[in-house]
Amino acid sequence: MIMNQPIRIAIVGYGNLGRGVEAAVARCPDMSLSAIYSRRPAASIQTLFGNAPVYEMEALNGRANETDVFVLCGGSKEDLPRKGPQLAALGNTVDSFDTHARIAEYFSAMDEAARAAGHTSIISVGWDPGLFSIHRVLGEAFLPDGDTYTFWGKGVSQGHSDALRRVEGVADGVQYTVPIERAIEQVRSGAVSLSNDSPTLIVLTPNHAALLDVLSSRYSNGVAAAQPDNDAGSLGFYVLTIPHQP
Ligand SMILES: NC(=O)c1ccc[n+]([C@@H]2O[C@H](COP(=O)([O-])OP(=O)(O)OC[C@H]3O[C@@H](n4cnc5c(N)ncnc54)[C@H](OP(=O)(O)O)[C@@H]3O)[C@@H](O)[C@H]2O)c1
Repeated sequence: MIMNQPIRIAIVGYGNLGRGVEAAVARCPDMSLSAIYSRRPAASIQTLFGNAPVYEMEALNGRANETDVFVLCGGSKEDLPRKGPQLAALGNTVDSFDTHARIAEYFSAMDEAARAAGHTSIISVGWDPGLFSIHRVLGEAFLPDGDTYTFWGKGVSQGHSDALRRVEGVADGVQYTVPIERAIEQVRSGAVSLSNDSPTLIVLTPNHAALLDVLSSRYSNGVAAAQPDNDAGSLGFYVLTIPHQP
């Protein structure tokens, strides 16, 4: 990389995250978008701004020297564990791997591939893991005797949704996460100290068995428990509760 030249970014995998990276790079005068790579036919990809070439994944090997940093925007469940180390051998990478229970394993695979090739790989950059993790570290440094809680939602979980869509037979799937108000109130008021198995989140999912499987492999402190819920049931959703994740 030449210091007074923009950093050449390539996006690998073009979904929600890929579009977000394209928009972010457009706001960074010290970066330029060299390419977008996808498994799908290049002609089928409509990008936000249309000002970077789109290539099919197979072209990446021969074009790696056109890019300084690959931003890996594939799914955490299957894409990153498979493609991450291969790409770390080809160039510098940044990704947002968020299968919490498998981060140490993923770190080892990426570290080995990047070190062997003399490249730099930054993993698990995002909200959580990512900025929220940094906030937790700062909070615990300033308030070492406090208890740390993280609540997510209301909102869509991109990681859980991606994992659901990878389940065979699922044509499409979106997973919504809603914090349990009572648990939030208990924490805010200091009335109760939640343990690692207190339920703090509910998730609405179109596929209960698949999400139970996904969650138990993503988090290390317990499997989600299924609960019937009439409102969600009438909308065709299942409800799961998830233990507090520190
Ligand atoms: N650390 C964090 O805080 C954090 C936050 C959010 C998300 N994430 C992670 O980011 C990952 C990606 O999230 P996402 O929301 O970008 O997932 P997504 O939209 O489903 O995209 C994932 C991959 O699916 C393929 N794809 C996208 N749209 C498609 C379509 N219309 N048809 C067929 N394939 C399509 C793309 O690969 P191709 O272009 O190669 O086909 C893309 O890279 C998640 O798995 C999650 O783990 C992490």
